[in-house]
Amino acid sequence: MASTEGATSSFWDELTSPVNLVLIAIIVYLLYKILRSHFETVTPAAPPPPPMPKLRKDLTVAELKKYDGTGPDGRVLLAVNGVIFDVTRGKRFYGPGGPYSAFAGRDATRGLATGQVAAGDKEYDDVSDLTADEIASAKEWEEQFREKYDIVGRLLKPGETPKIYSDDETEDKKSQ
Ligand code: HEM
Repeated sequence: MASTEGATSSFWDELTSPVNLVLIAIIVYLLYKILRSHFETVTPAAPPPPPMPKLRKDLTVAELKKYDGTGPDGRVLLAVNGVIFDVTRGKRFYGPGGPYSAFAGRDATRGLATGQVAAGDKEYDDVSDLTADEIASAKEWEEQFREKYDIVGRLLKPGETPKIYSDDETEDKKSQ
């Protein structure tokens, strides 16, 4: 009898030794973590925002100004050499507070040609005073934009009328 009691108590003593208590605590904690991760419902990532409908239209300087990223849809357009690009994808550059936000909703030709992050407030800038180097620089930017961004249309000179595009799927049209 006494020997069984002795064995029980020595087993109990060993089990409750500080080292074992710490190990037991670790095991219980790990089991808890494993079980919890097993039963935890995985929260699905938020679905990406629906793609913006493509804008295809010619705009005047005044109309272009509305697309500076502060509108309800956050769309950002800019023009280079008379071509309007949808640069919404580059919102971190052109959106409000971005390093190149001065170009948002503007004709960026002069700024890009001269290396100044600023756009004038002219109704229409014919940039006829630019040097050959500046013209070449603006052309390079235009090429870069053509590769990266969608073309929206042409920047209209005063008196010019907008072209009707067959792939015209604008929000303006839809709401008409
Ligand atoms: C100290 C001078 C400058 C530095 C360090 C600089 C740096 C940069 C960097 C790191 C990017 C991002 C490139 C990327 O992630 O694809 C960028 C983009 C850009 N930079 Fe600059 N930049 C400078 C001056 C200028 C100037 C003077 C202009 C024009 C007037 C300019 C126009 C732009 C534009 C338009 C973009 C965006 C291009 C796009 O939409 O992909 N930068 N710049």
